[in-house]
Amino acid sequence: MIEVKNVSKQFPNGEHQEYVLKDVQFEAKRGELVGIFGKSGSGKSTLLNILAGIEPATSGTVKIDGKDIAGFSNRALTKWRGKNVGIVFQSFHLIPTLTLIENVMLPMEFAGNRKRKRQRASELLEQMGLGMQANKFPGSVSGGERQRTAFARALANDPPMIAADEPTGNLDSQTSKDIFNLFQELADSGKTVLFVTHDLDFYEKVTRRLHVQDGSVYETP
Ligand SMILES: Nc1ncnc2c1ncn2[C@@H]1O[C@H](COP(=O)(O)OP(=O)(O)OP(=O)(O)O)[C@@H](O)[C@H]1O
Ligand SMILES: [Mg+2]
Repeated sequence: MIEVKNVSKQFPNGEHQEYVLKDVQFEAKRGELVGIFGKSGSGKSTLLNILAGIEPATSGTVKIDGKDIAGFSNRALTKWRGKNVGIVFQSFHLIPTLTLIENVMLPMEFAGNRKRKRQRASELLEQMGLGMQANKFPGSVSGGERQRTAFARALANDPPMIAADEPTGNLDSQTSKDIFNLFQELADSGKTVLFVTHDLDFYEKVTRRLHVQDGSVYETP
């Protein structure tokens, strides 16, 4: 389902261009749980952002379900992303002036899935154990609850792929385990889950391990 070939990413650094990723290759099938590991500054977020269609690669191909998203225009990429990827950031990125349920409804509004969106949002929050909190604002719930809301929002359009950047970075170990169990369930249900983590507890539990080091990506069995 994901086929990455010869992907490189450069950023300008003063006069010259610097490689952050060089000649990256890998594949992942549907239903895989892919962990992305590596030191701070190694390029993990850059790799995840390219796979999630958040930023373009400088060169190479990123085929997802047969479509090369590396060749998409910004506009096409935005549209594709809204339907195909559920994204969770470390800092959650919830809209503070909207309630939890309104935050979860947003992607459905963007994608034009207007029918029954409140009901779908309500069911997702219920699944995350947040049924009672639906009408609260992000500022008045805990970090773990905010993170679960971010997951409910990521799942709103039922995307085939989930991309999460250090989703457990700010959470206590029990909440991290809950989030990881959710990943496993999502992968078991056929979604491809990609996540960046520093947490080596997850190392043995993923189906594919990508290591980012000095601009290269390698895989360990
Ligand atoms: N927009 C940008 N412009 C210039 N350089 C960038 C940009 N984004 C990232 N970089 C550089 O690319 C490298 C990789 O950054 P990236 O955010 O992918 O690292 P990371 O592995 O996610 O690190 P961390 O674990 O700290 O989040 C870093 O050296 C960073 O400074
Ligand atoms: Mg990062």
